Amino acid sequence: MRPVTIKVGLGTCGISAGAKDVYDELERLLKTERSAILDYTSCNGMCFLEPIVEIYQPDKPVQVLTNVKKSDVPAILQGLKTDNFHSSETISEFSAVQKKLILGNCGLINPDRIEDYLERGGYEALRKIVKNNDPEDVIKIIKNSGLRGRGGAGFLTGVKWELAQKAKGKKKYVICNADEGDPGAFMNRAVLEGDPHRVIEGLIISGYAIGADRGYIYVRAEYPLAVQRIKNAILKAKDQHFLGENILGSKFSFELMIKEGAGAFVCGEETALMASIEGKRGMPKLRPPYPAQSGLWGCPTNINNVETLAAVPWIIRNGADEYAKLGKEKNRGTKVFSLAGKIKRSGLAEVELGTSLRKIIYEVGGGTISGEKVKAVQLGGPSGGCLPDRLLDTTVDYESLAATGAIMGSGGIIVMDNDTCIVDIARYFLNFTQQESCGKCTFCRIGTKRMLEILERITEGKSSIKELEKLKDLAEKITSASLCMLGKTAPNPVLTTLKYFEDEYLEHIQDKKCRAGVCKALIKFEIKADKCTGCTLCAKNCPVKAISGQRKQPHFIDQSLCTKCGVCADVCGFGAVEKK
Ligand SMILES: Cc1cc2nc3c(=O)[nH]c(=O)nc-3n(C[C@H](O)[C@H](O)[C@H](O)COP(=O)(O)O)c2cc1C
Ligand code: SF4
Ligand code: SF4
Repeated sequence: MRPVTIKVGLGTCGISAGAKDVYDELERLLKTERSAILDYTSCNGMCFLEPIVEIYQPDKPVQVLTNVKKSDVPAILQGLKTDNFHSSETISEFSAVQKKLILGNCGLINPDRIEDYLERGGYEALRKIVKNNDPEDVIKIIKNSGLRGRGGAGFLTGVKWELAQKAKGKKKYVICNADEGDPGAFMNRAVLEGDPHRVIEGLIISGYAIGADRGYIYVRAEYPLAVQRIKNAILKAKDQHFLGENILGSKFSFELMIKEGAGAFVCGEETALMASIEGKRGMPKLRPPYPAQSGLWGCPTNINNVETLAAVPWIIRNGADEYAKLGKEKNRGTKVFSLAGKIKRSGLAEVELGTSLRKIIYEVGGGTISGEKVKAVQLGGPSGGCLPDRLLDTTVDYESLAATGAIMGSGGIIVMDNDTCIVDIARYFLNFTQQESCGKCTFCRIGTKRMLEILERITEGKSSIKELEKLKDLAEKITSASLCMLGKTAPNPVLTTLKYFEDEYLEHIQDKKCRAGVCKALIKFEIKADKCTGCTLCAKNCPVKAISGQRKQPHFIDQSLCTKCGVCADVCGFGAVEKK
């Protein structure tokens, strides 16, 4: 009889929620109890339920225990004896709309064990293509599948591979772009941590297709667990002859290196990324020439996103037609989105392209934490756009999203409710791109700074209507005069918020009001004398001693000292502190 196995989700999200403590405690107690085998997997997409522990018992359904604490471990082991567990109910709702292709193995296999990947069809695609020995056929399959690059631009992958394959050059390279620098995006990290061999297999296949014998995975050093798991996976793949000289007995040889990036957003841009691999400063270059013609060290290079490459083994194994059945016209397959912000179920959602935003946010994500209506959704990170609730029936495909002014980007979805100030959000994203500008282009370097100053004045109630025109004018100039997409798209969050939420800008400027109560200069805290019992709690907790008053008498906030930290409102048990 197969033994009972307990699996703990040890992805970055799980570990940060305490899963490693749970794992260590299970390990400690199982040393004496020996009632089960302990194993680990990675994130299964349900970050909101971490730490997650799964119990695999022979001939019984898997028990999924969620939000587990170290102190729950003895009861879990006791549950093994009585078969009494408390599985989570939210799981089926979270998974119903999803179609897991890229994330098919994540949260199921042990990412450090190549055997787990092999058991689930891993490296079969590589075996198949080296046996057929027809790189052009591989390109044909990828072209027929309709796969588009998931790094943001949505360029047809097969067409890109063909360009690199046809380019003249003795030496060619392939690169996996795992930089993932957008705030709120963590899809690529989850795939690398949870199923690294899938990406490696996709990259080897891309190398085979274009005639490259060396590849790089460019991953940010801020993803140490992903780096560790890829390193281990490369060693295991070498052991099994999926990498190295004469792969699987064929004439094809392929070496794979890891380059850790220092965490600059601009280094996700392909030409800057290649400069970084070459040991130069990560600055974008004018294209053409495109990487397919002249990339790494001047050689033809193909660069793809993690998710693009992760789709490749599935397509080769199952056929282009099967992949093309998913999604909608011109937008085939699935896309992984990371759900973040004020959403109830934060985590990863893999859905067919063509699914509506409303379905993703409400059916997968469960709506907002507060249960209020969604106010806005930021799509595509700092280069993307902010859409209002009324546009949530827009489907996630490259063209429909572009028509709204937002973009698919790499797949970050940040949900906002009424406690979010739209002007402040625009300021936040512009501040990000401003700081991440490489500085090469004047408009991107200085124009974004001027835009940011205007936004800061608006949030401080010091701006004028005239400055809105200036904001639009600068946005237009930055878009047209910047070299790379970082600059060209930097004004997007401002332009979309102005398009859909202009009334909030006007309120800040004309009425000196921030309806979300976020912009500090436009709010004040006051104590309502009729509600205050004089308990003194706020005065004791105020960090700048701005509150005074006698015990059992109404208290009073000195506005000249108040820093608007809001501690008084948080501690008052009588609802006497009002934010105005
Ligand atoms: C500022 C900036 C950052 C980018 N960051 C990433 C990234 O983190 N990951 C990624 O795959 N593509 C990123 N891209 C897009 C890449 O330049 C490139 O288009 C992509 O890696 C191509 O892969 P794909 O064809 O599979 O989409 C970025 C582009 C810009 C302008
Ligand atoms: S647009 Fe900005 S990030 Fe891009 S090259 Fe110019 S200065 Fe650098
Ligand atoms: S905490 Fe509330 S009730 Fe107590 S003194 Fe402050 S305002 Fe009054």
